[in-house]
Amino acid sequence: LWWRVEELARRIFRRHGYGEIRTPIFEASGLFERAVGEETDIVGKEMYTFLDRGGRSLTLRPESTAPACRAYVEHRLDRGPQPVRWYYIGPQFRYERPQKGRFRQLHQIGAERLGAGGPDADVEILLLLVDFLEALGFQDLEVRLNTVGDTASRAAYRDALVAYLRPLADRLGPDSQRRLERNPLRILDTKSPEEQQLLAGAPVLSDFLTAESRKHFELVCSTLQSFGIRFRREPKLVRGLDYYTHTVFEVIAAGLGAQDALCGGGAYAGLVEELGGPPTYGVGFAIGQDRLMEVLPACSPVRRDEDRKLVLCRLPAHEADEAALLVAANRLARQLRQQNWTVVLYAGRPERALEVADRLGATGVLFLGESELEEEQVRVRRLSNRSQEVVSWKQLEEFFGSWNP
Ligand code: HAM
Repeated sequence: LWWRVEELARRIFRRHGYGEIRTPIFEASGLFERAVGEETDIVGKEMYTFLDRGGRSLTLRPESTAPACRAYVEHRLDRGPQPVRWYYIGPQFRYERPQKGRFRQLHQIGAERLGAGGPDADVEILLLLVDFLEALGFQDLEVRLNTVGDTASRAAYRDALVAYLRPLADRLGPDSQRRLERNPLRILDTKSPEEQQLLAGAPVLSDFLTAESRKHFELVCSTLQSFGIRFRREPKLVRGLDYYTHTVFEVIAAGLGAQDALCGGGAYAGLVEELGGPPTYGVGFAIGQDRLMEVLPACSPVRRDEDRKLVLCRLPAHEADEAALLVAANRLARQLRQQNWTVVLYAGRPERALEVADRLGATGVLFLGESELEEEQVRVRRLSNRSQEVVSWKQLEEFFGSWNP
């Protein structure tokens, strides 16, 4: 099932012009410190960091946006055609407290779009995300959308928020007190009702946006609206990584419990420059695949096995016939595989072969024993209605060519 989800992802991403990027599992620790931000939870307490034999500090990647941008800068991809469109599927590592929906080795399916763009890039990435989730069979996911503005508006807001909260600091919990100095925007995410009450009177980020940021966000929203994509504006959504500018979003899935974010993403207009490249607009998302598998709709097309599957059962025989049966079974299997059937060989009793076929979700079972060998034929059992017929080897191709699962 994991594999089928990934296969669908690759198909859809390719259709949107996204190609795969594979970055190393570990990077220099400084990359994440600079990109994700020293003050974030990820860098502050969740990284798997170690010294290698050369005394270098390395970190198992906690996310893949920074590695993608690092690759873009390192290989001077800004000199090639823009934008660069990438997707990735793979493990990430975060030292979090393990619980439902939260793993230390987590898996993400993500996409990043770098260079040449603005609101149009945000729209492209969001439509890609929605296309993929819809293709998986999701119908009523909630997209939460906000803008954090450009770097300057974000900094101005940060100052205003700290000025508002500092006199109230003794009424904040220990986590938020720590965040007040290090990463105050994260306090907006609080789950504590008392803190939410305190925040009710806090300055709001939208008041600090420049006219340009506002226009950017309105264009994203109105375009999504015209596609009938359901989303909710969430003025308090800030995300836990420092690199975001402009549009940020999360997709929430019911059924995930407390860790209900299925996907997170947004734009990062300053990240490539921060890593030593030219000013470059970037936007992307990452879906938590572990969580995705948990809430995959029961009716998802990827759950339905689109393969045409058969079990070919070689029945018990006298020693004298064994070699000839083995040859015949494999020859018929190869012939059917050329006709795009998946054929699983089984040797043993018919009842067991039927069990195997049921478990595989096969369409039918072919029985090949001594008498069939003699007559150059097989008995074919259709599993849906248990009907059985005899087909000669010569007619096998024709028979299965028109045999619908
Ligand atoms: P993130 O919000 O840190 O964003 O992670 C994205 C998704 O990964 C989450 O919504 C969640 O589904 C999943 N996830 C995160 N941590 C865990 C965990 N410990 N166990 C299971 N699942 C988890 C990023 O990683 C950004 N790089 C996304 C992005 C791409 N922004 C722009 N481009």
